[in-house]
Amino acid sequence: MSGGYVLGVNWWFHDGAAAVVDPAGNVLWMAEEERFTRHRHGWGEFPVAAVAAGLAETGVDREEISLVAVGWQPWLANHPSGQAWRPSYADPAVLAQDLLGWDRLPAGCTFSFFDHHDAHAASAFYASPFDDAAVLVVDGHGERASVSIHRGGRRTGITPVECYPRPFSLGYFYEAATRHLGFRLLEAGKTMGLASYALAAEPLFAFADGIPPGARALRADCTWDEAATAWGTWFQDTYGPVSTPTACLHRDPLAVRIAAQAQATVAAELARLVARARELTGLDAVCIGGGVAQNCVAMGAVDEPVYVPPFAHDAGVSLGAAWLTTGGPVLPQGVSPYLGAQTQPRTADQLAGWMSVDYTPDLVADLLRCGQVGAVYTGRAEVGARALGHRSVIARPDDTAVRDRVNRMKGREPWRPLAPAGLAECDGVFWDSRGSRSRYMTASAPMTDLGRSSLPGATHVDGTCRMQVVRETGVVHDVLRALRGGGHDPVVLNTSFNDRGDPIAHAGADVAAAAERMGLDFLVWDDELLRPAGGPR
Ligand SMILES: [Fe+2]
Repeated sequence: MSGGYVLGVNWWFHDGAAAVVDPAGNVLWMAEEERFTRHRHGWGEFPVAAVAAGLAETGVDREEISLVAVGWQPWLANHPSGQAWRPSYADPAVLAQDLLGWDRLPAGCTFSFFDHHDAHAASAFYASPFDDAAVLVVDGHGERASVSIHRGGRRTGITPVECYPRPFSLGYFYEAATRHLGFRLLEAGKTMGLASYALAAEPLFAFADGIPPGARALRADCTWDEAATAWGTWFQDTYGPVSTPTACLHRDPLAVRIAAQAQATVAAELARLVARARELTGLDAVCIGGGVAQNCVAMGAVDEPVYVPPFAHDAGVSLGAAWLTTGGPVLPQGVSPYLGAQTQPRTADQLAGWMSVDYTPDLVADLLRCGQVGAVYTGRAEVGARALGHRSVIARPDDTAVRDRVNRMKGREPWRPLAPAGLAECDGVFWDSRGSRSRYMTASAPMTDLGRSSLPGATHVDGTCRMQVVRETGVVHDVLRALRGGGHDPVVLNTSFNDRGDPIAHAGADVAAAAERMGLDFLVWDDELLRPAGGPR
């Protein structure tokens, strides 16, 4: 490349995103398109708004972009109808118009298209603290592969080692189970949560034995639609229908069994693939990316040394594609996920009826201890599916009634767990530590006896939790310190700040609307503490 900035993008299928990377591989900005368009997962959307915001917030001029790195080779991707690669995109000016919203491509700027799994591998490896590592990518599909193993090296780059075609897709299989249970596409996390209601489950089959039974009729380059039909038939034939409303699935033994067996199958396969990646590369350190790496239960079962990025989903390939051209930064702690847009100032008409006082951590700690439920809107937005304290709803973790209220406020199924966020001293005390995976909610782990007794609102039905160890300074860190200073456990419940079905709140208007609709008791908006007139609900 010519030494300018690189604009990484993901634009194909879902989770469109943009990343701005400097010539040394430092990531300056990254965000998903859904945060701007308010269309969850941004199906088929070009990351036009994310690109514009990324350049505006970093101050990088469009003329300074020497390369647009794309995390797909879309003409090979064989996607569902309506997302065809147009022949006119061979003209970079036409592509720049649609993909980036640019009326022209800067002089000297070019497009590069990268293999989707290579881009996932780069996003996982270069974000990690390792110099050399095996890299495992597991998702629905890339251009050809559904599972791939790579070798990653700071000096040698990303080298493919082995891949499996689409009928072996763990993502297809798990999404099909999710749909059979009545959830929507990309709601696989709900299946994982439901699986914990089973006492035990065995894997349904081993992918190592060959193409799994529901996928045997599929072509190597099948589409998701074809796979969904085939797997849907298999689930129907194997289990019969599930007609229980999703809010009550935890009481349906058939639904719980389906979820638990699907989870056991994926977990066993991921464990096998991690072992194979280590064997093939001769490296113990392993990085795991792709959408299936968001299965925090399976990720929590992997032995160290392991790294799972907070952007394992498709948005991460925007950054991975850029890093395939620049190489990545070497950061002992891995890459921070606080890469997105800054907060917007509150306007006079937003939450106009709410009372405003200066925010102090002690005041928020007091409100939490009184059982109030609030949200935090501060600093730069987190990239990825998890809210990590900058766009979070927070509450006390020691009261299941408060947890149940949070689920009602967010329109979540009542059986779904909520996660704890605590200071570093909690790691290994309230829950078993999972090293770097404890930091950004990329793994779950068993709670200790002390954790289960002290934090029942943050304990899932199987005695586990998906924890966040808060190390970055900021509002949540300060509130946790205030709780500790008051003699309380430095832990809060932490869940994403969004109403049912919405992406995480992003613009000021989203924040104000979500706060009203959800019925929050308080909101920390930068340095303001806002409370509804008339007191808590
Ligand atoms: Fe992917």
